[in-house]
Amino acid sequence: MDRTKVILDVDTGSDDAIALCAALLSEELDVLGICTVGGNVEVKNTTDNTLRVVECCGRPDVKVYRGAALPLASTLEPWSLQAQELPRKEGVKNQQTAVHTDHLPLPPTHLKAEEKSACAFLLETLLAAKDGEITLVPVGPMTNLALAIRADERILPKIRQVVMMGGSHDVYPVTQASEFNVWADPEAVEIVLQSGVPVTMVSLDATSHACLDRQQAQQLREIGSAPAEFCAALIEHRLHASAAEGDADGTGVGAAIHDALAVCAVVHPEVLTETVYTSCHVDLGHGYAYGETVLGRNYKFSEMPKNCLYAKSADSEYFFDWLYSVLKKAAQITD
Ligand code: RIB
Ligand code: CA
Repeated sequence: MDRTKVILDVDTGSDDAIALCAALLSEELDVLGICTVGGNVEVKNTTDNTLRVVECCGRPDVKVYRGAALPLASTLEPWSLQAQELPRKEGVKNQQTAVHTDHLPLPPTHLKAEEKSACAFLLETLLAAKDGEITLVPVGPMTNLALAIRADERILPKIRQVVMMGGSHDVYPVTQASEFNVWADPEAVEIVLQSGVPVTMVSLDATSHACLDRQQAQQLREIGSAPAEFCAALIEHRLHASAAEGDADGTGVGAAIHDALAVCAVVHPEVLTETVYTSCHVDLGHGYAYGETVLGRNYKFSEMPKNCLYAKSADSEYFFDWLYSVLKKAAQITD
Protein backbone atom coordinates (compact mmCIF):
# COMPACT_ATOMS: atom_id res chain seq x y z
CA MET A 1 0.00 0.00 0.00
CA ASP A 2 1.31 3.49 -0.86
CA ARG A 3 1.57 5.29 2.46
CA THR A 4 1.01 9.06 2.60
CA LYS A 5 4.22 10.85 3.57
CA VAL A 6 3.50 13.28 6.41
CA ILE A 7 5.32 15.60 8.78
CA LEU A 8 3.43 16.35 12.01
CA ASP A 9 3.83 19.63 13.89
CA VAL A 10 2.50 19.37 17.44
CA ASP A 11 2.14 21.20 20.76
CA THR A 12 1.64 17.95 22.72
CA GLY A 13 -1.03 18.38 24.58
CA SER A 14 -3.54 15.67 25.24
CA ASP A 15 -5.34 15.67 21.90
CA ASP A 16 -2.02 16.04 20.07
CA ALA A 17 -0.92 12.85 21.84
CA ILE A 18 -3.89 10.90 20.51
CA ALA A 19 -3.20 12.31 17.04
CA LEU A 20 0.43 11.16 17.34
CA CYS A 21 -0.60 7.63 18.38
CA ALA A 22 -2.94 7.38 15.39
CA ALA A 23 -0.33 8.73 12.95
CA LEU A 24 2.53 6.59 14.27
CA LEU A 25 0.44 3.40 14.32
CA SER A 26 -1.53 3.89 11.09
CA GLU A 27 -0.48 1.64 8.20
CA GLU A 28 -1.69 4.37 5.81
CA LEU A 29 0.81 7.01 6.96
CA ASP A 30 4.58 7.33 6.64
CA VAL A 31 5.60 9.80 9.38
CA LEU A 32 8.87 11.37 8.14
CA GLY A 33 9.41 13.31 11.36
CA ILE A 34 7.66 15.27 14.11
CA CYS A 35 8.15 18.98 14.79
CA THR A 36 7.26 20.47 18.15
CA VAL A 37 6.21 24.00 19.08
CA GLY A 38 5.25 25.94 22.19
CA GLY A 39 1.51 26.24 22.62
CA ASN A 40 -0.56 24.13 25.01
CA VAL A 41 2.49 24.02 27.25
CA GLU A 42 6.07 25.24 26.88
CA VAL A 43 8.13 23.80 24.02
CA LYS A 44 10.42 21.90 26.43
CA ASN A 45 7.32 20.08 27.67
CA THR A 46 5.66 19.62 24.27
CA THR A 47 8.93 18.10 23.06
CA ASP A 48 9.34 15.79 26.07
CA ASN A 49 5.68 14.76 25.84
CA THR A 50 6.09 13.98 22.14
CA LEU A 51 9.15 11.81 22.84
CA ARG A 52 7.19 9.92 25.51
CA VAL A 53 4.40 9.21 22.99
CA VAL A 54 6.92 8.05 20.35
CA GLU A 55 8.33 5.58 22.90
CA CYS A 56 4.86 4.44 24.00
CA CYS A 57 4.06 3.63 20.34
CA GLY A 58 7.33 1.77 19.87
CA ARG A 59 8.43 4.12 17.09
CA PRO A 60 11.90 5.46 18.10
CA ASP A 61 12.69 5.37 14.36
CA VAL A 62 10.57 8.51 13.96
CA LYS A 63 12.68 11.50 14.96
CA VAL A 64 11.50 14.57 16.89
CA TYR A 65 12.68 18.12 16.14
CA ARG A 66 12.23 20.86 18.70
CA GLY A 67 10.73 24.03 17.26
CA ALA A 68 9.75 27.57 18.15
CA ALA A 69 9.18 28.44 21.79
CA LEU A 70 7.30 31.63 20.94
CA PRO A 71 5.06 32.89 18.12
CA LEU A 72 6.38 35.15 15.35
CA ALA A 73 4.93 38.40 16.67
CA SER A 74 1.84 38.01 18.87
CA THR A 75 3.74 38.02 22.16
CA LEU A 76 5.91 41.04 21.36
CA GLU A 77 3.48 43.47 22.95
CA PRO A 78 3.79 42.73 26.70
CA TRP A 79 0.20 43.79 27.28
CA SER A 80 -1.20 41.37 24.69
CA LEU A 81 -3.26 38.39 25.81
CA GLN A 82 -0.79 36.12 24.06
CA ALA A 83 2.13 37.62 26.00
CA GLN A 84 0.29 36.83 29.21
CA GLU A 85 -0.63 33.30 28.19
CA LEU A 86 2.23 32.01 26.02
CA PRO A 87 4.28 30.31 27.26
CA ARG A 88 2.81 29.66 30.66
CA LYS A 89 5.62 30.98 32.83
CA GLU A 90 5.07 28.89 35.91
CA GLY A 91 3.76 25.94 34.00
CA VAL A 92 0.20 24.76 33.96
CA LYS A 93 -1.22 25.52 37.38
CA ASN A 94 -3.58 22.68 38.26
CA GLN A 95 -2.24 19.50 36.73
CA GLN A 96 -5.31 17.58 37.90
CA THR A 97 -7.86 19.54 35.94
CA ALA A 98 -5.86 21.13 33.12
CA VAL A 99 -6.79 19.76 29.71
CA HIS A 100 -3.09 19.93 28.81
CA THR A 101 -0.55 19.11 31.51
CA ASP A 102 3.20 19.77 31.55
CA HIS A 103 3.84 16.01 31.62
CA LEU A 104 1.65 13.40 29.97
CA PRO A 105 0.78 10.29 32.03
CA LEU A 106 3.60 8.23 30.50
CA PRO A 107 6.95 7.18 31.97
CA PRO A 108 9.87 9.55 31.36
CA THR A 109 11.84 8.58 28.25
CA HIS A 110 15.53 8.38 27.39
CA LEU A 111 14.71 9.39 23.82
CA LYS A 112 16.06 12.81 22.87
CA ALA A 113 15.08 15.37 20.27
CA GLU A 114 17.46 15.75 17.33
CA GLU A 115 20.04 18.54 17.32
CA LYS A 116 18.49 20.00 14.16
CA SER A 117 15.64 22.47 14.76
CA ALA A 118 12.13 21.90 13.45
CA CYS A 119 12.55 24.68 10.89
CA ALA A 120 15.85 23.23 9.66
CA PHE A 121 14.27 19.77 9.38
CA LEU A 122 11.33 21.16 7.40
CA LEU A 123 13.65 23.01 5.01
CA GLU A 124 16.04 20.07 4.50
CA THR A 125 13.31 17.44 4.07
CA LEU A 126 11.07 19.50 1.79
CA LEU A 127 13.89 20.78 -0.43
CA ALA A 128 15.02 17.18 -0.96
CA ALA A 129 11.49 15.98 -1.76
CA LYS A 130 9.73 15.65 -5.10
CA ASP A 131 6.99 18.14 -6.01
CA GLY A 132 3.78 17.45 -4.13
CA GLU A 133 5.33 14.61 -2.15
CA ILE A 134 4.77 15.59 1.47
CA THR A 135 1.64 16.45 3.47
CA LEU A 136 2.14 18.73 6.46
CA VAL A 137 -0.13 18.27 9.49
CA PRO A 138 0.22 21.21 11.90
CA VAL A 139 -2.02 20.78 14.95
CA GLY A 140 -0.59 23.57 17.09
CA PRO A 141 0.60 27.14 16.44
CA MET A 142 2.07 27.21 12.91
CA THR A 143 5.25 29.13 13.70
CA ASN A 144 7.69 26.47 12.41
CA LEU A 145 6.09 26.24 8.96
CA ALA A 146 5.83 30.03 8.63
CA LEU A 147 9.52 30.38 9.49
CA ALA A 148 10.44 27.75 6.88
CA ILE A 149 8.31 29.45 4.20
CA ARG A 150 9.93 32.81 4.90
CA ALA A 151 13.39 31.19 4.95
CA ASP A 152 13.06 29.47 1.55
CA GLU A 153 9.95 29.58 -0.62
CA ARG A 154 11.40 26.80 -2.80
CA ILE A 155 9.76 24.38 -0.35
CA LEU A 156 6.25 25.41 -1.46
CA PRO A 157 5.87 23.15 -4.55
CA LYS A 158 7.10 20.18 -2.49
CA ILE A 159 4.07 20.40 -0.19
CA ARG A 160 1.12 18.26 -1.36
CA GLN A 161 -1.18 20.01 1.11
CA VAL A 162 -1.34 21.41 4.62
CA VAL A 163 -4.04 19.71 6.71
CA MET A 164 -4.19 21.93 9.77
CA MET A 165 -6.21 21.81 12.94
CA GLY A 166 -7.27 25.38 13.58
CA GLY A 167 -9.67 28.16 12.88
CA SER A 168 -13.30 28.61 13.75
CA HIS A 169 -16.35 30.30 12.41
CA ASP A 170 -19.46 29.07 14.22
CA VAL A 171 -18.12 27.24 17.26
CA TYR A 172 -16.76 28.47 20.59
CA PRO A 173 -13.53 30.33 19.88
CA VAL A 174 -10.97 30.42 22.66
CA THR A 175 -11.30 34.19 22.70
CA GLN A 176 -14.18 36.30 21.49
CA ALA A 177 -13.08 35.63 17.96
CA SER A 178 -10.39 33.01 17.44
CA GLU A 179 -9.41 29.41 17.95
CA PHE A 180 -6.30 28.66 20.05
CA ASN A 181 -3.82 27.49 17.38
CA VAL A 182 -4.56 30.51 15.19
CA TRP A 183 -4.86 32.90 18.14
CA ALA A 184 -1.46 31.82 19.47
CA ASP A 185 0.30 32.82 16.23
CA PRO A 186 -2.06 34.64 13.84
CA GLU A 187 0.72 35.96 11.60
CA ALA A 188 2.06 32.43 11.05
CA VAL A 189 -1.29 31.14 9.82
CA GLU A 190 -1.73 34.11 7.50
CA ILE A 191 1.72 33.50 5.98
CA VAL A 192 0.63 29.91 5.20
CA LEU A 193 -2.76 31.05 3.84
CA GLN A 194 -1.08 33.58 1.54
CA SER A 195 1.64 31.16 0.39
CA GLY A 196 -0.51 29.43 -2.21
CA VAL A 197 -0.07 25.92 -0.79
CA PRO A 198 -3.31 23.88 -0.70
CA VAL A 199 -4.79 24.17 2.80
CA THR A 200 -7.48 22.05 4.43
CA MET A 201 -8.59 23.81 7.61
CA VAL A 202 -10.02 21.30 10.10
CA SER A 203 -11.70 23.94 12.22
CA LEU A 204 -13.43 23.84 15.58
CA ASP A 205 -16.68 23.75 13.61
CA ALA A 206 -15.62 20.28 12.43
CA THR A 207 -13.74 19.07 15.51
CA SER A 208 -16.75 19.86 17.71
CA HIS A 209 -18.10 16.65 16.09
CA ALA A 210 -15.05 14.68 17.22
CA CYS A 211 -16.09 14.36 20.87
CA LEU A 212 -15.54 10.90 22.36
CA ASP A 213 -17.24 9.62 25.52
CA ARG A 214 -16.42 7.30 28.41
CA GLN A 215 -17.94 4.26 26.71
CA GLN A 216 -15.75 4.82 23.66
CA ALA A 217 -12.71 5.32 25.90
CA GLN A 218 -13.48 1.94 27.53
CA GLN A 219 -13.80 0.31 24.09
CA LEU A 220 -10.31 1.58 23.28
CA ARG A 221 -9.00 0.37 26.64
CA GLU A 222 -10.28 -3.14 25.92
CA ILE A 223 -7.95 -3.33 22.92
CA GLY A 224 -5.36 -4.01 25.59
CA SER A 225 -2.27 -2.29 24.16
CA ALA A 226 -0.26 0.47 25.85
CA PRO A 227 -1.14 3.12 23.21
CA ALA A 228 -4.84 2.19 23.41
CA GLU A 229 -4.83 2.38 27.21
CA PHE A 230 -3.01 5.74 26.96
CA CYS A 231 -5.57 7.14 24.50
CA ALA A 232 -8.43 5.93 26.71
CA ALA A 233 -6.87 7.64 29.75
CA LEU A 234 -6.42 10.88 27.81
CA ILE A 235 -10.05 10.91 26.68
CA GLU A 236 -11.20 10.33 30.26
CA HIS A 237 -8.88 13.08 31.49
CA ARG A 238 -10.22 15.53 28.91
CA LEU A 239 -13.78 14.72 29.98
CA HIS A 240 -12.82 15.26 33.63
CA ALA A 241 -10.95 18.49 32.90
CA SER A 242 -13.74 19.94 30.81
CA ALA A 243 -16.25 19.13 33.54
CA ALA A 244 -13.99 20.38 36.34
CA GLU A 245 -12.93 23.61 34.71
CA GLY A 246 -15.94 24.20 32.59
CA ASP A 247 -14.58 24.03 29.11
CA ALA A 248 -10.93 24.36 30.08
CA ASP A 249 -9.96 23.68 26.49
CA GLY A 250 -11.47 27.00 25.59
CA THR A 251 -13.47 25.48 22.83
CA GLY A 252 -16.80 24.86 24.50
CA VAL A 253 -16.87 21.37 23.16
CA GLY A 254 -15.41 19.45 26.07
CA ALA A 255 -13.47 16.39 25.10
CA ALA A 256 -13.29 16.99 21.38
CA ILE A 257 -10.20 15.19 20.10
CA HIS A 258 -9.40 18.02 17.71
CA ASP A 259 -5.95 17.05 16.44
CA ALA A 260 -6.70 13.38 15.76
CA LEU A 261 -9.52 14.43 13.43
CA ALA A 262 -6.98 16.34 11.31
CA VAL A 263 -4.85 13.18 11.04
CA CYS A 264 -7.92 11.15 10.06
CA ALA A 265 -8.77 13.72 7.38
CA VAL A 266 -5.35 13.28 5.73
CA VAL A 267 -6.16 9.72 4.63
CA HIS A 268 -9.95 9.77 4.94
CA PRO A 269 -11.14 13.24 3.85
CA GLU A 270 -14.66 11.78 3.69
CA VAL A 271 -14.74 12.11 7.50
CA LEU A 272 -15.23 15.83 6.84
CA THR A 273 -18.90 15.74 5.93
CA GLU A 274 -19.36 19.41 5.12
CA THR A 275 -16.62 21.52 3.51
CA VAL A 276 -16.52 24.75 1.53
CA TYR A 277 -13.74 25.92 -0.77
CA THR A 278 -13.49 29.59 0.06
CA SER A 279 -11.19 32.47 0.86
CA CYS A 280 -9.86 32.45 4.40
CA HIS A 281 -7.65 35.02 6.03
CA VAL A 282 -6.63 35.84 9.57
CA ASP A 283 -7.47 39.20 11.12
CA LEU A 284 -4.10 40.70 12.16
CA GLY A 285 -5.50 43.92 13.56
CA HIS A 286 -4.87 44.18 17.30
CA GLY A 287 -8.49 44.65 18.09
CA TYR A 288 -11.25 42.37 19.33
CA ALA A 289 -10.94 40.07 16.30
CA TYR A 290 -7.16 39.54 16.39
CA GLY A 291 -6.62 35.93 15.26
CA GLU A 292 -10.09 35.44 13.80
CA THR A 293 -10.27 33.27 10.68
CA VAL A 294 -12.39 35.35 8.33
CA LEU A 295 -14.12 33.29 5.65
CA GLY A 296 -15.08 34.72 2.26
CA ARG A 297 -18.67 35.49 1.40
CA ASN A 298 -20.20 37.09 -1.66
CA TYR A 299 -20.29 40.80 -1.13
CA LYS A 300 -20.61 43.94 -3.21
CA PHE A 301 -17.06 44.90 -3.93
CA SER A 302 -14.88 41.93 -4.67
CA GLU A 303 -14.44 38.37 -3.61
CA MET A 304 -11.01 37.39 -2.28
CA PRO A 305 -9.38 34.53 -4.22
CA LYS A 306 -10.31 31.15 -2.77
CA ASN A 307 -7.38 29.59 -0.89
CA CYS A 308 -8.72 27.10 1.63
CA LEU A 309 -10.91 24.04 1.96
CA TYR A 310 -12.71 24.89 5.18
CA ALA A 311 -14.23 21.96 7.09
CA LYS A 312 -17.54 22.82 8.74
CA SER A 313 -18.58 19.42 10.06
CA ALA A 314 -17.41 15.83 10.57
CA ASP A 315 -18.78 12.32 11.10
CA SER A 316 -18.06 11.46 14.74
CA GLU A 317 -18.89 7.76 14.35
CA TYR A 318 -16.59 7.44 11.34
CA PHE A 319 -13.86 9.22 13.31
CA PHE A 320 -14.13 6.86 16.31
CA ASP A 321 -14.31 3.75 14.10
CA TRP A 322 -11.14 4.90 12.32
CA LEU A 323 -9.26 5.57 15.59
CA TYR A 324 -10.41 2.22 17.00
CA SER A 325 -9.34 0.31 13.89
CA VAL A 326 -5.88 1.94 13.81
CA LEU A 327 -5.20 1.07 17.46
CA LYS A 328 -6.73 -2.41 17.14
CA LYS A 329 -4.74 -3.36 14.03
CA ALA A 330 -1.52 -2.08 15.59
CA ALA A 331 -2.18 -4.15 18.73
CA GLN A 332 -2.76 -7.29 16.65
CA ILE A 333 0.53 -6.76 14.81
CA THR A 334 2.52 -6.45 18.04
CA ASP A 335 0.70 -9.37 19.74
O1 RIB B 1 -8.34 24.71 19.59
C1 RIB B 1 -7.90 23.37 19.67
C2 RIB B 1 -6.41 23.29 19.50
O2 RIB B 1 -5.80 23.98 20.60
C3 RIB B 1 -5.87 21.85 19.56
O3 RIB B 1 -4.77 21.71 18.70
C4 RIB B 1 -5.44 21.68 20.99
O4 RIB B 1 -4.31 20.80 21.12
C5 RIB B 1 -5.04 23.07 21.37
O5 RIB B 1 -3.68 23.23 21.00
CA1 CA C 1 -2.63 20.88 19.49
